[in-house]
Amino acid sequence: MKKIGRNEPCWCGSGRKYKVCHASFDEKIQGFADRGYMVPSHEIIKTPEQIEGIRRSGKVNIAILDYVAQRIGPGISTEQIDRWVSEKTKELGGIAAPLGFEGYPKSVCTSINSQVCHGIPSEEDILKEGDIVNVDVSTLYKGYYSDSSRMFCIGEVSQEARTLVEDVRKCVETGLKNVKPWTCLGDMGNAVNEYAKGRGYTIVREIGGHGIGLAFHEEPFVSYVAKPGQEMIMVPGMCFTIEPMVNAGKADIFIDDSNGWTVYTEDGSLSAQWEVQVVVTEQGYEIMAY
Ligand code: MF3
Ligand code: CO
Repeated sequence: MKKIGRNEPCWCGSGRKYKVCHASFDEKIQGFADRGYMVPSHEIIKTPEQIEGIRRSGKVNIAILDYVAQRIGPGISTEQIDRWVSEKTKELGGIAAPLGFEGYPKSVCTSINSQVCHGIPSEEDILKEGDIVNVDVSTLYKGYYSDSSRMFCIGEVSQEARTLVEDVRKCVETGLKNVKPWTCLGDMGNAVNEYAKGRGYTIVREIGGHGIGLAFHEEPFVSYVAKPGQEMIMVPGMCFTIEPMVNAGKADIFIDDSNGWTVYTEDGSLSAQWEVQVVVTEQGYEIMAY
């Protein structure tokens, strides 16, 4: 961590002297580092001004998902969802973050049934009764990023599919309850994993949540196979996503060679995901997008 003079202005942008602003906060972080914990750098601890910017971006992201939720159903192509997201994002003054991200060709990810994530919208993929689909929306708004996803059941779905979708939501809620300042991300991730395992599911190991705010993907990586007492300490002002990809069968996955993006369950089992974006607060957390 960069050394700041006690009488110099604080790094958080408050305009106050460091010694009366974040000096003791930084000492607390240093104390964890001295005991061998992973700690965040200042770059990923957001200032109040940045948090307000991310909050506004999150509101746009939520509005886009609400717009999709009101229209999605049997007979809708995933391409149509992409058009809705693209249009609504522009109308609200945002930019769809996925479009062009590392060459990704569309404005949203739509992952159906055994697709784990990064399903690419297409005119050919028509949602039908019984499908479960994840719609993952990410927005850049006035310089700040937001990212959240929801599951949708198309018409009547099987008991197995409905239960999976509901249980994965409970996985995320379990994660939320475990977002507490000055505890480890590994405690949170492990709680999510234990919940999923208790319901007979597995969680994908290779892909997880991430820091977010000034960039689409920032430190830390948010894992669900992490051990309690490990991974980064959660510090007020940190902003990240909780987005477990939960499989009804085995945890193994593969990537579609033909597009280089879409991830599937290896065994063809159903997969579901909800994604929530939070900021850590002094008391616990605030939801930025869901
Ligand atoms: N929205 C995804 C996430 O939750 C990222 C998708 S990257 C994209 O992190 F390029 F596929 F959009
Ligand atoms: Co994400």
